[in-house]
Amino acid sequence: MDAYKLELESVGKTYTAADGKTVPALGPVEMKIPDHRFISIVGPSGCGKSTLFNIISGLLDSSEGAIYVDGRRVDGLTGITGYMLQKDLLLPWRTILDNVILGLEIQGVPRRQAKERALPLLAKYGLGGFEHQYPAQLSGGMKQRAALLRTILYDREIILLDEPFGALDAQTRTMMQEWLLDLWDDFQKTILFVTHDMDEAIYLSDEVYIMTARPGTIKRHLTIDLPRPRKPQIVTSEPFMKLKEEALKTLSEETMKAYAQETTAG
Ligand SMILES: Nc1ncnc2c1ncn2[C@@H]1O[C@H](COP(=O)(O)OP(=O)(O)O)[C@@H](O)[C@H]1O
Ligand SMILES: [Mg+2]
Repeated sequence: MDAYKLELESVGKTYTAADGKTVPALGPVEMKIPDHRFISIVGPSGCGKSTLFNIISGLLDSSEGAIYVDGRRVDGLTGITGYMLQKDLLLPWRTILDNVILGLEIQGVPRRQAKERALPLLAKYGLGGFEHQYPAQLSGGMKQRAALLRTILYDREIILLDEPFGALDAQTRTMMQEWLLDLWDDFQKTILFVTHDMDEAIYLSDEVYIMTARPGTIKRHLTIDLPRPRKPQIVTSEPFMKLKEEALKTLSEETMKAYAQETTAG
């Protein structure tokens, strides 16, 4: 049997504070993700989603479990995935072009070559004409595009996106979703996408994982077998609404638990 692109086996994390207190933040989490899928992860705030991505990216050590990419154990290795952090900021002193080629530069690609690769992509993905501007001159949506392009250009087969559109208004967000689907189609990546927006999760994804309150485990795994390409109007279709209703019911149970945890925590 072929290996999965990404496999998580009982991955968990317990944080230990300076005073020795422990916080079980995540897990055990199991996921088996085939190549080229678009996977969304939805869960209540504080359930461990960013922790999970930090572990998969190798930035944070897990407390338990194992991670495999193409069947090879990769726990604790960095550089295996492209990762756009929840608060991934562009460097304000670098132009958009220089920001976008950052990942390539880190890999040792000469700047000129990196720029040659980036420029056509900036043009194709709606940032043409803004190459030499600075982040402060761009709208929120454009900045997120630049940050996403930077992540894609880092050229890993697995891309982790932690709430990339969380701060955008609804209309910009819809545009960005279309844009991301195009990018995914063009580059054939496996994408893991964290969002708190269930419409967004279902609309974009092949599969949606719904997590429990902290410590986050997988409560539900939904297969989204809506046909592609998808058009934004699909969110009002019967099959979409059915999936959404089921997913929201599951999520709201966990959100209530998370709320209770917050309000009783010392
Ligand atoms: N470095 C840390 N030390 C202790 N607790 C942490 C640390 N980072 C996160 N946590 C706690 O772990 C839980 C999960 O956090 P996080 O992964 O950021 O959740 P999410 O991204 O789902 O909102 C939260 O309760 C958070 O307060
Ligand atoms: Mg988070």
